[in-house]
Amino acid sequence: MTTVDLPLLPLGRGTDRASERGVECPGDLPSASDPDLVARAHAAKEALGERVFVLGHHYQRDEVIQFADVTGDSFKLARDAAARPAAEFVVFCGVHFMAESADILTGPEQQVILPDLAAGCSMADMARLPQVEAAWRAMADAGVQDLVVPVTYMNSSADIKAFCGRNGGVVCTSSNAEVALEWAFAQKGPDTKVIFFPDQHLGRNTAVLKMGYSLDDCVVWNPHLPGGGLTADQLRAAKVILWKGHCSVHGRFSPVVVDELRAKIPGVQILVHPECTHEVVLKADLVGSTEFIIKTIEAAPAGSSWAIGTELNLVQRLAKAHPDKQITFLDKDVCYCSTMNRIDLPHFVWALESLVEGVVVNRIEVDPETERDALVALQRMLDLPGKSHKD
Ligand code: 13P
Ligand code: SF4
Repeated sequence: MTTVDLPLLPLGRGTDRASERGVECPGDLPSASDPDLVARAHAAKEALGERVFVLGHHYQRDEVIQFADVTGDSFKLARDAAARPAAEFVVFCGVHFMAESADILTGPEQQVILPDLAAGCSMADMARLPQVEAAWRAMADAGVQDLVVPVTYMNSSADIKAFCGRNGGVVCTSSNAEVALEWAFAQKGPDTKVIFFPDQHLGRNTAVLKMGYSLDDCVVWNPHLPGGGLTADQLRAAKVILWKGHCSVHGRFSPVVVDELRAKIPGVQILVHPECTHEVVLKADLVGSTEFIIKTIEAAPAGSSWAIGTELNLVQRLAKAHPDKQITFLDKDVCYCSTMNRIDLPHFVWALESLVEGVVVNRIEVDPETERDALVALQRMLDLPGKSHKD
């Protein structure tokens, strides 16, 4: 195994890469300066009534999230995607991998729409099926494949989820990564190993900080190096094989800024997402998914001080909603997720008004074979025991 060629996948076959989906803006997109955009969105949503169900991830802009029927983190949105089986259209205000999961989890007659096809995820793009299959072959060459359980973060394309479904693995999100890893380690006896795609930080933070594995138990598979940059002996010795992927937003937070804010704001509590680096998470007071971050701030006493390391739309919304608490962004620079921000009011209005006119635009449709296998891994996640937002 050396390097792999990466063929362009046909549209809709479970790839998250914007370049392969085609991202041209529709010609009749309303102008961003149209003062009637909010009224137009309300009118279109009202005209569609129960026919449309709008899901919104917490990182969405305020201008869009106000129209969501359900808001949530990746886990909650996956769980709630099928909540309205009577809705013909599920408009997903989030990114491509989330819309794919919604398509897999909703009924065959329901159509999932992503208002802007350029809303991808750079992290999901870091693990591609040919690369993952090459890594899997390397596990076989090292004589350990039978012991390895593949676990993929929700932030991956449908074909990676399908790979996990076919190979005895599971999907996880930032809210259930620990339970999913516990499940995975119970699958093949005491010698079980896990390969975790595509976010090395979530994998490492969960394995080391929540489950007691050491940093030496973890190795990093670099898909751009021959053999992942690892020897067969390293693969044999590892318990956790972390894919070399990361979130470009959460990867920005730095331990230096944590120290600076602690010195500047007495009593500040550092609250971060587990996609942050291990060094940042080690210095934090609390770590959890976006839903956990929201619940923590809601439950915090008035007058408490917080520095939050997650996407800026959410941090700004929390600061606005809780003026009695001091909420600071854990970075000196503005840091939105640029692909989450692709879903803006013009695209939302365009998608909804097109539906009113009987035209389905930007449908996200996972092919049946990928859907069947990805559903196996998603369903294993939804069936996991223990912690969820309901608890
Ligand atoms: P959660 O929704 O699981 O908190 O993940 C955050 C994220 O980066 C989504 O893209
Ligand atoms: Fe992807 Fe990070 Fe943006 Fe989430 S915040 S969509 S993981 S780039």
